[in-house]
Amino acid sequence: MKKTLNIALCILLFVAAAIAVYRFGFRKSIPDAPVTQQVVSILKQNDCFVCHSNNPKLPFYSSFPIIGPMIAEHANHAVRFTDLESKVNENIDEVTLSMLDHAVSYGMMPTTEYRLIHWGTRFNRMEKSVIAGWIKEKRGYDEPVSVIPDCVEYDAAKADLGERLFNDPRISLDGTITCATCHVLEEGGADHADERVSEGINSLKGGVNAPTVYNSGFNIRQFWNGRAEDLREQAEGPATNPVEMGDQTWDQICDRLREDKALVEEFESLYPGEGLTRMTVTGAIAEFEKTLITPNCRFDLYLKGDKNAINSEELAGYENFKKNACATCHTGVILGGRSFEYLDIYGNYFDDRSKEIEYNSDDDGLKSFTGKDEDLHKFKVPGLRNVALTAPYFHDGTFQTLDESVKAMAQYELGRELTENEVHSIVSFLNTLSGKNPHLTN
Ligand code: HEC
Ligand code: HEC
Ligand code: HEC
Repeated sequence: MKKTLNIALCILLFVAAAIAVYRFGFRKSIPDAPVTQQVVSILKQNDCFVCHSNNPKLPFYSSFPIIGPMIAEHANHAVRFTDLESKVNENIDEVTLSMLDHAVSYGMMPTTEYRLIHWGTRFNRMEKSVIAGWIKEKRGYDEPVSVIPDCVEYDAAKADLGERLFNDPRISLDGTITCATCHVLEEGGADHADERVSEGINSLKGGVNAPTVYNSGFNIRQFWNGRAEDLREQAEGPATNPVEMGDQTWDQICDRLREDKALVEEFESLYPGEGLTRMTVTGAIAEFEKTLITPNCRFDLYLKGDKNAINSEELAGYENFKKNACATCHTGVILGGRSFEYLDIYGNYFDDRSKEIEYNSDDDGLKSFTGKDEDLHKFKVPGLRNVALTAPYFHDGTFQTLDESVKAMAQYELGRELTENEVHSIVSFLNTLSGKNPHLTN
């Protein structure tokens, strides 16, 4: 009896040792291939695509009670965060790079429960260094946040014309509204802080909060749901929107502007062969918007090498911002603006929201533009430059303060609660992002 037990024990130990040797020794090897392929292979070998895939390859025990549903839920959250399997390739985007950067730097992936069952699915030093090197090469900057350039190229004469049009009430049907009515350049380029949603012509209200026009040229697309490709196309929208500048056509707007002979001449000299048209009016406005950058905020001075530009509380806030994965979606030059993400990865934002706000098509997010079910509740990640100046927050203007916004982000995007200290330090970091522009009075 004792002998059989010993043999059984020996066999068990042998199998365990064989699995360990296999997992740690042979199974994980980095192929001799171009570095992108190496990275894909490393992710595959560490089971990253088990959860982060549109077509998750759940292990056999996912049908077992307790543990099964848990892993399935992880996979469900994981793919809503990022579908690494389809995104990690030669043309990987900035946001996925910052997500990988976070996963590698903080060693949180795979999830603890998964790792307990699947030993060895954690990056080793060699794997980390291959991925880190690849991220650096692809992204071109070290930190997940990068500085705003001091200047951008633009055509000064067209921008000057565009500035006058931005402030020109003749674009609106009744001559009362300008772009600047809702994008107050002195205050932060968004609407006044007491406006949850903007008020346009005849005091009509729109469905969403006005984002800032500052640094909007760095956005991947324009609007919360991305329906405009660029700034020029965006500028066509408000002018003919019945609740913004009036129920009118661009032909009507151009006819009205053409009554101004000096303006017509200016267009003819700046846009030879085109003159004053829908394309050139919106083109000039977009040219002006290019100048609305806000370089040299205190945090940028810090990134440029002035270590005293921010204090220790603000620096701790930046560390917390990175550690808590805020800098994954909020990455790049404007800490956002580069991707569309689900607002409700954890929990149902819209069920929890104040009942005074009725659910409307703007709340569908990206789906209201693409019509695809999988885009429901995806919103363009707003940039966080000058965020201290642009209250209220979120696409529906629900939150008045940054404290509330940061807590809600942790709840709905990360399924966790931050400590009061973490929230305060992150908010103090966000306050260092207010930059400089001649129009800003601060
Ligand atoms: C068992 C499922 C599971 C596996 C396997 C898994 N993840 Fe995740 N992953 C998640 C979940 C759940 C989240 C959501 C964020 C959270 O809960 O912290 C997530 C979030 C992420 C994120 C975005 C947030 C962040 O922390 O940066 C990245 C990047 C990521 N995982 C990378 C990886 C990589 C790389 C691997 C392979 C080593 C991996 N994951 C394996 C479940 C998984
Ligand atoms: C009545 C208020 C109002 C007026 C007038 C107005 N806007 Fe807006 N603007 C908004 C709102 C609200 C949004 C967000 C709409 C959405 O995403 O669906 C917005 C979005 C934008 C965006 C996109 C920013 C981003 O991050 O996606 C830009 C750029 C912009 N407006 C520029 C302009 C210009 C240029 C004009 C004048 C031609 C103008 N706006 C007139 C309220 C207004
Ligand atoms: C999975 C992507 C993702 C993560 C992670 C994330 N955010 Fe966001 N963030 C968003 C999206 C999307 C919105 C827009 C929400 C909306 O439109 O209602 C947003 C909005 C915000 C806003 C409001 C900005 C404005 O102008 O309205 C702040 C502030 C913010 N996030 C900070 C944070 C902080 C701090 C963290 C970390 C605790 C974080 N975010 C993590 C995607 C993310």
